[in-house]
Amino acid sequence: MPFDVVEATQRVEEQIGQLSRLRSEERPGWTRQVFGEPYRESREWVAATMRDAGLEVHRDAAGNLVGRLAGTNSSAPALMTGSHTDTVEGGGRFDGVVGVLGAIEATRSIRESGTPLSRDLLVVDFLGEESNEYGLSCLGSRTMAGELTAADLNRRNAAGRSLGSAYEAFGLDPSALLDPARTAPGPLHGYVELHIEQGPTLEKEGTQIGVVTSICGIERFVAHFAGREDHAGTRPVADRHDAMVAAAQAVLTVRSEGCGAPGVATTTHVRNRSSSPNVVPSAVDVSGELRSIDRSWLTGAKRRLGEQVLSASRGYGVDVDFDWTSDNEIVQAHPRAYDLVAATAAELGYSWRPVPSGATHDAVHLASLAPMAMIFVPSRDGRSHCPEEWTDAPDIGRGVHVLAETLRALDTA
Ligand code: GLV
Ligand code: MN
Ligand code: MN
Ligand code: MN
Repeated sequence: MPFDVVEATQRVEEQIGQLSRLRSEERPGWTRQVFGEPYRESREWVAATMRDAGLEVHRDAAGNLVGRLAGTNSSAPALMTGSHTDTVEGGGRFDGVVGVLGAIEATRSIRESGTPLSRDLLVVDFLGEESNEYGLSCLGSRTMAGELTAADLNRRNAAGRSLGSAYEAFGLDPSALLDPARTAPGPLHGYVELHIEQGPTLEKEGTQIGVVTSICGIERFVAHFAGREDHAGTRPVADRHDAMVAAAQAVLTVRSEGCGAPGVATTTHVRNRSSSPNVVPSAVDVSGELRSIDRSWLTGAKRRLGEQVLSASRGYGVDVDFDWTSDNEIVQAHPRAYDLVAATAAELGYSWRPVPSGATHDAVHLASLAPMAMIFVPSRDGRSHCPEEWTDAPDIGRGVHVLAETLRALDTA
C-alpha cells in the first residue's frame, strides 16, 4: 500500500488536537512542561498512541519513551526518529509534537505498507527537550548520548531544588542517568527528525520542505552586577554605584551585539536580589544567551560582550562578573543523510531548500550517535514558542511523507 498523504495528514491533525488538550490549564497558551503533571499524563497518551500504531513501547533509563517496529533483521544497527512533546511555558501545539506524532504516523504507514524495513525502527519521544528551570535543554537525548554530567544533576532551580531530585520525583533513578550501559540506545544506522521551522524562511518563499544544514550553538551567561546599597531618597544620583543601571546598559549592549550579526543575542532575565523599593540596587543578575551557526562569531561575541559590559559598568562604579555555560555546540547535518532527505523531497515532487536551524533540537545530541538529518515544515508567520504557533495540516502531511520515504531510503543506504 503506498503512503496515503490525505489519511496521514488527517490522523496527525486529529492527534495534535487531542494531545494539545493535555496541558496546564492555569498557565498561558499550551503549556506542558517537563516533570509536570500534564506532561506525565500526556506521555501515557503518547505511549498508547504508539501502541495503537503497532509499536512495542518502553520507557528507557533516561526517561525517553521508545516505540519499536521490528525489522526483518533486528541485529542490524537500527534507524531512529522522534522529537519531544514538552513545551515552553505559554508555548504552542506543534514544536516537537509534529516530530513525535509524524514519526508514529510514518511508522504506521511503513508497517501497513506490507514491505517491512530490514532494520528496527525506533520512534522516540525524548524527555524534556525545552530548556527548563534548571537551565538545561534536551534532557533525554543528552542522556542517551552520554552527555549528561553529575554537575548537571546538581543544577538548582530558583527554589534550590536539584535537577537530580526532579528526576527522582518523576520516577527515574538519577544514578542510572550517568551510566552509558543503561542509557545508550545500541548501534544506530541513522537519525532523522521532523520539526516545524519556527522561523519565517519557508513560508515567505513558499517552499514546502526545509532540509537542515546545521543547528546553532548556544552560549548562556549570567552576569552578576555588584554595586553598593544606599538610601534611594538621599543619595544623589550621580554619586551612586547602581547595579540596575549597569545591568540596563548591558541589556542594550547584548541587543546591539546581535543586531545584523550572523547570530542572535537575547537577554532573558534581569533580577534584583533585593525586593526593597527604596534602596539603590546593589546586586543584580542578568541572564541571556547567544546563538549562531558561526563558531568564530560566538567566540568573538562572548569576548566583546565581556569587555564592553565590564567597561560600561566600571563607568557606573559597578563590578561585573560573567558565568558562561554552553548548552550545545554547533552541529552539522550528516552530508549523506542530508542528501537523502533532499533527494526524497525532490522525488516526491515537493519544493525544498537548505535551511539552518536557530532553534536547538534533540538531533544535536543524536548527531554524536548516528548520521543525523532534519526535515523542516513551514511555520505560519515564523511564530514559535508562543500560543499562536501554527503549521497547516497539508504542510505537516508533506513532512511526514518525506520522513517515511527518507527512513525507507536510509534503511538500505
Ligand atoms: C528550544 O526550542 C530551543 O531552541 O531553545
Ligand atoms: Mn522543538
Ligand atoms: Mn522549542
Ligand atoms: Mn527546540
